[in-house]
Amino acid sequence: MESAADLKEYTRSQLALRNGSDREEIWCAYRGIIYDLTASRLWRGGKHYEHWAGQDLTDELPDAPHGEWVFSRFRAVGKLI
Ligand code: HEM
Repeated sequence: MESAADLKEYTRSQLALRNGSDREEIWCAYRGIIYDLTASRLWRGGKHYEHWAGQDLTDELPDAPHGEWVFSRFRAVGKLI
């Protein structure tokens, strides 16, 4: 079974490349885990309301009208180191 310990590690600058402009992938980190949001229509182009992919958005979640359950349908692709 896959656990957080098996996830590949990425640095902040590697995550920053997955912002939807430099590369096709749209990733964001939340509480140390990186999620692939490429398939989300709500994150098209790497932008979600006033929030941008390619970074750690843990501190921004309190601004959202939803909780962390929104990540449950996305694949964890790595962990942020
Ligand atoms: C002004 C702030 C924000 C607004 C107005 C907003 C609004 C929304 C809405 C309306 C949805 C759809 C929820 C549903 O399926 O019922 C959504 C989904 C989502 N939000 Fe936000 N959000 C905000 C900030 C954030 C932040 C800061 C994050 C990341 C920490 C985030 C991550 C997500 C994710 C991952 C989804 C799921 C997308 C999908 O299912 O395709 N949101 N958001």
